[in-house]
Amino acid sequence: MFFKNYLDSNKKLIESSMDTYLGELNYPEVIAEGMKYAVLNGGKRLRPILLFMILDILECEKGMGTASAAAIEMIHSYSLVHDDLPALDNDDYRRGKLTTHKKFGEAEGILIGDALLTHAFYILTEKNKHLPAEKIVEIVRLTSSYAGINGMIGGQMMDIASEGKKIDLEILKYIHSNKTGKLMKLPVELACIIGDADREEREILIRFSDLIGLAFQIKDDILDIEGDFSTLGKPVGSDIELGKSTYPALIGMAESKALLKETIAEAKIIVAEKFGVEKSNILLELADYIGNRNK
Ligand code: IPE
Ligand code: IPE
Ligand code: MG
Ligand code: MG
Ligand code: MG
Repeated sequence: MFFKNYLDSNKKLIESSMDTYLGELNYPEVIAEGMKYAVLNGGKRLRPILLFMILDILECEKGMGTASAAAIEMIHSYSLVHDDLPALDNDDYRRGKLTTHKKFGEAEGILIGDALLTHAFYILTEKNKHLPAEKIVEIVRLTSSYAGINGMIGGQMMDIASEGKKIDLEILKYIHSNKTGKLMKLPVELACIIGDADREEREILIRFSDLIGLAFQIKDDILDIEGDFSTLGKPVGSDIELGKSTYPALIGMAESKALLKETIAEAKIIVAEKFGVEKSNILLELADYIGNRNK
């Protein structure tokens, strides 16, 4: 119950900030409306929530991280808008509604995605003025790195290039740790900068984010086979249709589930050892949530 309330209240917090930031935009109408449609549409908001959790553990006030959390969710939402385009995964539903390009058109969908990515950097600079300039520079450096060729885009490219092929496990690990992992690691690293984590805290929290990022994508791959469209809000079976390289495709369903369990268990052990069960409780709950989620 505590965990559910925590998720709900932090979700409200980030949604109201994003609502305010995006509410400042109005022209061209199709881009402004499309950006709101793509972001304010029922995502789980796990990346912003993760940033807030780390700030809580570091005993830093959440307001210090709101702009960074909103920027990450904008980049994540843009990655979904482009991921769903006909040239990529060609999906028609996302978060229970028509995908952005289905609703607004393909050219518009491309530009709406571009606008979200660039606007995220506007937010990181314009709305972070409470932070010292050196922290803002470091935040922008990490965000641009993890969203680009050395992060999400690198993973997305290899995901697309691996369609219909039998790839080895090393490449699959690269795909997962970049297309999904880097945007899960980003909120943790930004929270460590904002909340002044020491070196050891940072190392453990980053290792935790690597593990839950991997678990998150293994579970996403499993849900693409065993999930339910009305709960997930996105199509099931899309990976098999496109011949995607996923954990179930490469190592089988039973092995994938075992690896998921192992990865979650390891993530929990390392944070519990460092911060103690009481202080890290929220992260332990998050790890279980990621392993057990059906949405
Ligand atoms: C979906 O991410 C894309 C992946 C990286 C697997 P989420 O499952 O976090 O999507 P939303 O934001 O809740 O819609
Ligand atoms: C996408 O992975 C990860 C992104 C960077 C968007 P998927 O293609 O598996 O995500 P879903 O299943 O469409 O949400
Ligand atoms: Mg994809
Ligand atoms: Mg997809
Ligand atoms: Mg998927």
